[in-house]
Amino acid sequence: MSLEVIILAAGQGKRMRSRLPKVLHQLAGQPLLSHVLKAASSIGAKQIHVVYGHGGDMVKSAFPDTALRWVHQQEQNGTGHAVELALQGITDEVQIMILYGDVPMIKRETLHKMVNAGFDLVVLTAVIENPSGYGRILRNSTGQITGIIEERDANNDQKAIKEINTGIMLGRAEELRYLLAKIDCSNDQAEMYLTDVISIAVDRGLKVGTVRADSEIEITGINDKLQLAAMEREKQLETANDMMRDGLTLRDPGRLDVRGELKFGMDVVIDVNVIIEGQVELGDGVVVGPNVYLRDCVIGSGTQIKSNCVLEEADIGENAVVGPFARIRPGTRLAKQVHIGNFVEIKNSQVKSGAKINHLSYVGDSSIGERVNVGAGTITCNYDGANKHHTEIGDDAFIGSGTELVAPVSVGAGATIGAGSTITRDAPANELTLERNKQRSISGWQRPKKKG
Ligand code: UD1
Ligand code: CA
Repeated sequence: MSLEVIILAAGQGKRMRSRLPKVLHQLAGQPLLSHVLKAASSIGAKQIHVVYGHGGDMVKSAFPDTALRWVHQQEQNGTGHAVELALQGITDEVQIMILYGDVPMIKRETLHKMVNAGFDLVVLTAVIENPSGYGRILRNSTGQITGIIEERDANNDQKAIKEINTGIMLGRAEELRYLLAKIDCSNDQAEMYLTDVISIAVDRGLKVGTVRADSEIEITGINDKLQLAAMEREKQLETANDMMRDGLTLRDPGRLDVRGELKFGMDVVIDVNVIIEGQVELGDGVVVGPNVYLRDCVIGSGTQIKSNCVLEEADIGENAVVGPFARIRPGTRLAKQVHIGNFVEIKNSQVKSGAKINHLSYVGDSSIGERVNVGAGTITCNYDGANKHHTEIGDDAFIGSGTELVAPVSVGAGATIGAGSTITRDAPANELTLERNKQRSISGWQRPKKKG
């Protein structure tokens, strides 16, 4: 039987106190809903139906190219109503897994257990210390589930039950449709409660069973910013632990944030307070120092990123050294064995192997040849106020400290530029080019003295 997923995400999420719909708030750099979508795909859902309401257009446009079916729920008349709407487009012979847009940490293994449980209707439950706010699982003397009672409709004995309804449920479309047609709104909120299908199914003699979630975190929903922040730490720690099991060395798993995807080779070490965004790849033996921000980078084997560097959309070769305090901006490619030192900014530039730019420099829109040495305080003047221009430096050139290279300009291979020059015309290969006022000294000159 094929499996499809209905994700309930029509709620407003008032307690987030935000204009952003709840399911678009981010966990580990991804909208809450995208975590749920991943879980749905991981169990092989043939189709995913998302019930949306509040801020629907925003939600839809955040997921433009996925093959989702969007089901609009005009008024939030309850979880049962939401599922009923989604079922309108689904054929009878389909297994339906009901997930929640604001329960992002649900695990594939748990959902698999439900699929393999062999019941007509399966409810995912959890036993938790503080069950308040949740629907409680009712069982008869033989332990068979008989129904679910919402907290606001429960008596004191029922409120004492610690086994709760996670809301996650599995059943055939035909049966769910049949059961939902039988429920009414005779409850405290006058809503259609999905949970009411359980007692009706039991009465009708369907095989109703439960699967228990292993951890509370995977069934926890997000309602406010405090819960979102707490879950972020849980999620980050889970990611860090998984990566350490795969061989990553973390100086402190509590001080790494991966807001995207991190791939890493053997013997990679990451120091504290590192943030990874987008897609980042670290080759074998890469060492990342403390306080480093990496977004969409590939870093070659053996390379060291020293402390306090920011690298974005960059490709760094093998055995390079970057930082401390370097800023590598989009479009930068550093070849192998390049050294970039402190307070160096590089943008949209190619730096070939063995080149060194070690101190206080700005290199933008440039091509730097092999083994070039760029002296301290060198600036490529790439912007004339209207357009950006290119700087080309040939292999083995030596750029003296404090040089300004006014682009477009090129420095030939093996050329030497005298320190402090402002280079406005191409410098020929293998020659010394310098541009400097003649130095003079004024003898007998006196420093001004403080008056009075
Ligand atoms: C629901 C369950 C409760 C369970 C709890 C788990 C019911 C009646 N109760 O309660 O047993 O313990 O979840 O968190 O099902 N939604 C819609 N359309 C609606 C109503 C809700 O899409 O008309 C979505 C919400 O966006 C939310 C989810 O369904 O993601 C749950 O709705 P909510 O109103 O928060 O249900 P609870 O009262 O928490
Ligand atoms: Ca000068």
